[in-house]
Amino acid sequence: MNIKEFIHKMPKAELHLHIEGSFEPELMFKIASRNGIKLPYKDIETLKQAYNFNNLQEFLDVYYAGAGVLITEQDFYDLTWAYLEKIHQQNVIHTEIFFDPQTHTERGVAFDTVIDGIHKALVDGQDKLGISSVLIMSFLRHLDEASAFKTLQSGLRHKDKIKAVGLDSSEVGNPPSKFKKVFDAARQEGFLTVAHAGEEGPASYVYEALDLLKVSRIDHGNRSLDDDKLVEKLIDLQMPLTVCPLSNLKLKVVNDMKVHPLKKMLQLGLKATVNSDDPAYFGGYMNENFEAVTQALDLSKKDLIRLSKNAFEAGFVDEATKQKLLQQLEVFQEQTVI
Ligand code: HPA
Ligand code: ZN
Repeated sequence: MNIKEFIHKMPKAELHLHIEGSFEPELMFKIASRNGIKLPYKDIETLKQAYNFNNLQEFLDVYYAGAGVLITEQDFYDLTWAYLEKIHQQNVIHTEIFFDPQTHTERGVAFDTVIDGIHKALVDGQDKLGISSVLIMSFLRHLDEASAFKTLQSGLRHKDKIKAVGLDSSEVGNPPSKFKKVFDAARQEGFLTVAHAGEEGPASYVYEALDLLKVSRIDHGNRSLDDDKLVEKLIDLQMPLTVCPLSNLKLKVVNDMKVHPLKKMLQLGLKATVNSDDPAYFGGYMNENFEAVTQALDLSKKDLIRLSKNAFEAGFVDEATKQKLLQQLEVFQEQTVI
């Protein structure tokens, strides 16, 4: 089996995916049109030309503009369903999805509209496609603590649908410490915690995410490698890192896939995983991410299995579900001569 087929067939889990970042241009124009909203791009081609980013902020500006056409529960359902259908074709059997409530509530869309649409699609994803999923409510770190607290309050009405809280948006200048109290409150309510850290921000933000926000995973974490002590700590803790190769390339976190730190992370014994982050904007879903790093870093099939196994092990699911997922990977491994 060639490596491309191997990547395609390997059962995978995705742990770092912003549902608003899976908004493909075609669907965006369709939903804009049915809501009578005019996008600031005249057509799909012009929109795609805007997908040339020099940093995280340039991407976020386009991403929030796109998300601005989502109004109804059906819109959020359609967005989520399109993503699930896509990953189903790629043999992703489990996914943990971020949603950014404030991106929508700030525009006057009700919290319940957002979560109900997403959740209904996730239920259908389980029933019709066999994809298990977890929802992570992410706070926008460029907004203030009070806004995050208000969002947490809304989330409490939907505790049954939300497993964890996260932290995303503009990293530099918005350290994890800004949200310590909100994360304390979230943990007291029983939520697990994760945070984007060390994407553009320094290694000290990764320390803060661990020590102050008590995260169970670090989203991205690339800049951890600047600090040997931190690397040691992450290895000791076997702290999962949800790495996003194509995102890193598109946002110029790395200049070339050939110098992406993923292989080094694996060699060091860090618990790295591969994820798509915002696939509609960064040029690919899970398989394209795996293909890009495999080609650039010459990853072996053994490396690929390790990455997939890391993701299943790092999932926020109960032990029985985890074992079932891992078993699918084992069956694949047994059927495939490595
Ligand atoms: N980083 C921070 N915020 C985000 C990202 C990201 O990669 N994607 C969507 N929101
Ligand atoms: Zn992200």
